[in-house]
Amino acid sequence: MELNKIRREYRYSALTRKNATAHPADQFRIWLNEARQANVNDFSAMNLITCSPGEFPQSRIVLLKDYNKDGFTFFSNYTSAKAKAMELNNKVGLHFFWPELERQIRIEGLAEKTPRQVSEDYFKSRPLDSQIAACASSQSSEIDSRETLEKQYQKVKDLLAGQAPECPENWGGYFVRAVRIEFWQGRENRLHDRLVYVHNENGWKIKRLSP
Ligand SMILES: Cc1cc2nc3c(=O)[nH]c(=O)nc-3n(C[C@H](O)[C@H](O)[C@H](O)COP(=O)(O)O)c2cc1C
Repeated sequence: MELNKIRREYRYSALTRKNATAHPADQFRIWLNEARQANVNDFSAMNLITCSPGEFPQSRIVLLKDYNKDGFTFFSNYTSAKAKAMELNNKVGLHFFWPELERQIRIEGLAEKTPRQVSEDYFKSRPLDSQIAACASSQSSEIDSRETLEKQYQKVKDLLAGQAPECPENWGGYFVRAVRIEFWQGRENRLHDRLVYVHNENGWKIKRLSP
């Protein structure tokens, strides 16, 4: 495949200071809704980027489950690799890419655990099989085979005998309090639009960046 011969123009839309909202959460809501309407697969999937001091950055997909004017919530395992990284350095990145809309959103923020009640409420709302899987899997730890994993799952399922499990202590949400959010819209001739919202003591300030 000759990747260096593949080129395409970006013409879908534009992002200007005039049509951007004053608060980044409003701009985010508009773009998230448009991604959903455009039937982007897994439109709520985002890269979570962590970086433990002295280590390589690590990136993985997680699903956005909530957001508000201050930040973004996802759920995970509190003993996973990402959890360990966030304990050492809670400065994280979140990254959305919606190719159908020629858009990306880059977020920088500070991760904190959600209150226990938020984790429990969301855990309860998940399908029973997902709840069981969360109890059966020690996320990011080495496991000798697929068979072992399936046995662990079956063991938890049998023990519960149709009952829903409690939300495990080592499972819950993270809230990423945003400090910087960049909206990128592909444009013709590689003259893309980049508007970045930076948070300071007076609220959010918008700047345009060169593409
Ligand atoms: C589409 C998709 C959605 C995912 N959603 C989540 C999620 O919401 N929470 C989660 O912990 N892992 C999710 N994962 C799995 C993570 O990408 C990752 O494999 C896992 O969390 C372990 O990461 P870690 O070892 O860096 O902690 C998802 C993966 C994909 C591809």
